[in-house]
Amino acid sequence: MKLKGVKVAILTMSDKGARGERVDTSGPEIRSIVEAEGAIVFYYEVIPDEQYEIEERLVRLADLEDADLILTTGGTGFSPRDVTPEATLAVIERNAPGFVEAIRHASLKITPHAMLSRAVSGMRGQTLIINLPGSPKAVRESLQVVMPALPHGLEILKCQTGECAVTTQTGNDIDT
Ligand code: MTE
Repeated sequence: MKLKGVKVAILTMSDKGARGERVDTSGPEIRSIVEAEGAIVFYYEVIPDEQYEIEERLVRLADLEDADLILTTGGTGFSPRDVTPEATLAVIERNAPGFVEAIRHASLKITPHAMLSRAVSGMRGQTLIINLPGSPKAVRESLQVVMPALPHGLEILKCQTGECAVTTQTGNDIDT
């Protein structure tokens, strides 16, 4: 149960999905993976590849809905309509490149097309945002990579100041 009690929002970026011309399978794949780890998925929506709309959702979910983790899927590639990374970069306050670096690194062993994902990850307030590519297979492969580091990252992010102590996976208390 790596994500026990973590408030997760899932956003699928797909023009066809938003028009009802394609059934989204990536968002539900994220949901089943994180729920199996104990997360609470409180929001899921399929929206078009419109930068302003994506930014608005990310800001609302982070600032007003207090999401701990926003996982996006789709819109990270080279198509002119793929603007998920641009929308994410416009709203994050701090970069957290390790997640997407690790995903691309691991995914390259599976497909050279991993190079074609421009996904980014970062923080807005106490919300972590990670872009995932837009297929159930890519979602599975990507979440498998980041899952081991997510609990500790989210735990530290939730600390208000440097005064709080966190419990590591080995059970030792450390000062942050
Ligand atoms: N990463 C993993 N792990 N597995 C995949 O199958 N597909 C790639 C890449 N990253 C893939 C992957 C492909 S084919 C593309 S085009 C890019 O992600 C961007 O996908 P997106 O535009 O749906 O976000």
